[in-house]
Amino acid sequence: MMKRNTWILAMFYALLFGFVITSCGDDDDDDDVEFVADAATFADFTSWTVQATETGVDPSGALGPAHNGEAENSVRTIYVKDGLNMSDGSYRNGTVIVKHTSNEPGDVNSYQAMVKRGNGFNTDDNDWEWFKLNADGTIIERGTNIGACAGCHSASTRDYVFTE
Ligand code: HEC
Repeated sequence: MMKRNTWILAMFYALLFGFVITSCGDDDDDDDVEFVADAATFADFTSWTVQATETGVDPSGALGPAHNGEAENSVRTIYVKDGLNMSDGSYRNGTVIVKHTSNEPGDVNSYQAMVKRGNGFNTDDNDWEWFKLNADGTIIERGTNIGACAGCHSASTRDYVFTE
C-alpha cells in the first residue's frame, strides 16, 4: 500500500499539472477566434499607420523581382491595421498588413496583403491568408497558396513578416 505522504505528493502533482494545462488553455482563448477578412477589412487602408516605406532596389536582395524589388523607381509602402502585436512568436489573429507597390513594369500599382486568420486555417504557414487587392481594397484573389507568397515569407524570423 502507498504511504500517506506519497499520496499527498501524487495529489499535489496532479493538481499542479491540471492547473498548468488549464492556464495554458486560458491563454490561448483569444487565439482561437478565427478572423475572416472581407472587402471591408481593407477599405481605407491608406489611412492606416504606415509601418515602412521602402524605395528602390531591395538592399537585402531577398526580394528579387517580387514586389518590384529590383527596380530603382520602386516604392513599397506597408500599412498596418490596428498595430503589430506579437505574443509567443506569433502575430495575433486579425493582424492585417497591406503593401502597395508602385512603378511596377508598365507603371502599374499592385496591392497585396497578409492576414492572420488563425484557428488552424493554414497550419503549413502559421495560419496566414494571402491576398491580391484592387486599389480600393476589394479582393482580387485570396488563399493559402497564391503567388509564392508563403514560400518567400517563411524565410522571415518574425512569423512570416519582414517589416519591423
Ligand atoms: C521573393 C520573395 C517574396 C515573394 C514571392 C512575396 N513577398 Fe511579400 N515581401 C517580401 C519581402 C522581402 C518583404 C519586405 C521588404 C519590402 O517590403 O521591400 C515583403 C513584404 C510584404 C508585405 C509587408 C509585410 C512584410 O512582410 O514586411 C506584405 C503584406 C507582403 N509582402 C505580401 C505578399 C503577398 C500577398 C505575396 C504573394 C502574392 C508576396 N508578398 C510575395 C518578399 C516576398
